[in-house]
Amino acid sequence: MAEKNTLLSGRNLSKQFKGLLAVSGVDIDIHQGEIVGLIGPNGAGKSTTFNLLSGFLPPTTGQLTIGGADMTGAMPERISAQGLVRTFQHSSYLPTMTVEDNVLIGALGGTRSGRVARAGQAEVIRQAIDLFGLAEQRNSIAKNLPHGLQRLLSMAIAFAARPSLICYDEPLTGLNQTEVAETLKVYRRLKSEFGMSILLVEHNMRAVMSICDRIYVLHHGEIIFTGTPDEVKSSEAVLKAYLGEAHDI
Ligand SMILES: Nc1ncnc2c1ncn2[C@@H]1O[C@H](COP(=O)(O)OP(=O)(O)OP(=O)(O)O)[C@@H](O)[C@H]1O
Ligand SMILES: [Mg+2]
Repeated sequence: MAEKNTLLSGRNLSKQFKGLLAVSGVDIDIHQGEIVGLIGPNGAGKSTTFNLLSGFLPPTTGQLTIGGADMTGAMPERISAQGLVRTFQHSSYLPTMTVEDNVLIGALGGTRSGRVARAGQAEVIRQAIDLFGLAEQRNSIAKNLPHGLQRLLSMAIAFAARPSLICYDEPLTGLNQTEVAETLKVYRRLKSEFGMSILLVEHNMRAVMSICDRIYVLHHGEIIFTGTPDEVKSSEAVLKAYLGEAHDI
């Protein structure tokens, strides 16, 4: 079997906020074409970990390697040029611009980093809009879209930069069942047709379990378990971490 191509590796990543150690000694690897989940109860440190991996926060300790290059302490622009693009827990788009112009801005990010050729921009934009089911809303102003479509737009913007790794922070929040099913289908295509990797923070356990190849479980800032969805479901440590939480894992 061929060696797995490691896109991202974090080693001993920690983040201290004054008296609070929000993330502690996190080791994480993401390989090419893998869909990886990052789950954990509220306040476990998932978004903070995302911020560390995407350069929005410098780590207090640890090392970050992306695409073979040392990215420890690098700013978000440098990390996205290296192929990692993220979305935020709340929808991220320019509210007064059209769907198409928002997606263009995503593609421009990819153009700057050299992943999207200027000549191919229009095609990338069309593909992003079609993939995420936004064709009919192409000329709509983003803020006027229903909530579910705004979430899909955030994902389309990230896709249009053509990253090798997309990090989605709770992308399914507020989507109805049909939209969730459609989004998961798109994720499978990002992996199979585009060879992209996905890091997914998500509270919708059914979705996480059905889509992820591998899952990291965070609790109080530490990775307490890593494994396949089946392994996670049958882990005592994971069940214990979720006890008292309103999640059905
Ligand atoms: N900028 C900050 N300054 C101080 N404390 C912070 C900061 N960001 C997060 N925290 C704290 O760090 C801990 C981890 O927060 P984080 O947002 O990473 O959790 P999370 O797993 O994403 O939670 P949720 O499921 O609610 O989104 C929490 O106790 C939070 O209050
Ligand atoms: Mg969060």
